[in-house]
Amino acid sequence: MEIRKVLLTEDEIPRQWYNILADIKMNPPLGPDGNPITPEALAPVFPMNLIEQEVSSERWIDIPEPVLDILTLWRPSPLIRAISLEKHLDTPARIYFKNEGVSPPGSHKPNTAVPQAYYNKVFGIKKLTTETGAGQWGSALSFACCQFGIECKVFMVRVSFDQKPYRKSMMESWLGKCVASPSSETKAGREILEKAPDTPGSLGIAISEAIEAAVSDTTGKTRYSLGSVLNHVMLHQTIIGLEAKKQLEKVGEKLPDIVIGCAGGGSNFAGIAFPFVLDKMNGKDISIYPVEPAACPTMTKAPFVYDHGDTARYTPLLPMHSLGHAFVPPPFHAGGLRYHGMAPTVSQLIAEGIIEPKAVTQLAAYDAGAVFARTEGFIPAPETTHALACVFDEAKKAKEEGKEKVILFNWSGHGLLDLGAYQKYFAGELEDFDLPEEEMSQSKKAFENFPKPQLLKSF
Ligand SMILES: Cc1ncc(COP(=O)(O)O)c(C=O)c1O
Repeated sequence: MEIRKVLLTEDEIPRQWYNILADIKMNPPLGPDGNPITPEALAPVFPMNLIEQEVSSERWIDIPEPVLDILTLWRPSPLIRAISLEKHLDTPARIYFKNEGVSPPGSHKPNTAVPQAYYNKVFGIKKLTTETGAGQWGSALSFACCQFGIECKVFMVRVSFDQKPYRKSMMESWLGKCVASPSSETKAGREILEKAPDTPGSLGIAISEAIEAAVSDTTGKTRYSLGSVLNHVMLHQTIIGLEAKKQLEKVGEKLPDIVIGCAGGGSNFAGIAFPFVLDKMNGKDISIYPVEPAACPTMTKAPFVYDHGDTARYTPLLPMHSLGHAFVPPPFHAGGLRYHGMAPTVSQLIAEGIIEPKAVTQLAAYDAGAVFARTEGFIPAPETTHALACVFDEAKKAKEEGKEKVILFNWSGHGLLDLGAYQKYFAGELEDFDLPEEEMSQSKKAFENFPKPQLLKSF
């Protein structure tokens, strides 16, 4: 019998995260005066212990014991060989995936929600505010805050709020409070509602609302938490790739030939990929693909610039691929991939040609998601189906080339609260969205006058 599931014991869980900032050069985030931002300037938004992690260039950072205690509720997550899918695709490739859908909220997001809630708790913070696209991050932070006895307030992008009502109930199960964004609770939200009352919302808008809610709390005991994009979030997610490495070794695989993850802000992709980027930087031949929706083509069509991470321009200027901070993506169902920017670390690796972004359409993604559910059984989140579409392409290529490649991908979450979208897909009602060139060039005007990042070479 062939091995399907590769498991690690709790003792084998990685005890340190991998920090890619030790190995790549980065343009600094810039403040309103155009100078690099100081850690002190971020203090009203994040606790200082997380800010220190955000700027750290230590290669390995210890995972605190209280964090490991909670992560072991579901970690180490299984590495599964997709044998039935391989047979279906009739490919010589061996396809492995990390099942991050086994966490309580159903995705990779609690890998960073738990340490973020922990560091805030240790710093004396009583309440966290955040945004959520798909609802996975809002659920994850509600879960983590509940574990540490902190309040959690979530601004959920309107279109997802309407598409997935049960995500709110999930957050409430963990005592989180969730409102649709834009909301009338913040100045940023009210201004947008006045101009566009029917807006589907965007992650950029929800981030503005969550930051405003945190910094305007006069108790000084509220901070903001971001579920992707920032360096410390990428860091926390590397536990995925570090586990995968041990698991592949266990079944006698050396290194994967191909590593794939979908990318919204970049965190689940970074989680699986960064430990292998290190091998690639050390000369190993690995193709590494972040995958985005063709309707929100941040990495494949937008330039590498300085831009704000949110619509109201509360965040510093970050060096990243961006469609413009006011860009409102079309209402496709992968809510977690509807973001105008991309993690600075992921953007830097693209700029250096270390990783190669791909874009797939909504229908191609759901086609792959449905085949996956019918072969491997698990129903993937709409975001995850984007990674799957790329896996299918690579498995077919391996067949054409007659090569036994090892493909590793991140199964970033389950789609059990996304069945409304599947229902539309099965009824033939799901469509692809075009993004007119004109709309893109219009939204890119938002960063026209900002400074430009340097093209740095780390190697
Ligand atoms: C299941 C799932 N996968 C992927 C993503 C994309 O986010 P990131 O790029 O930060 O991993 C999300 C975001 O909500 C998600 O819920």
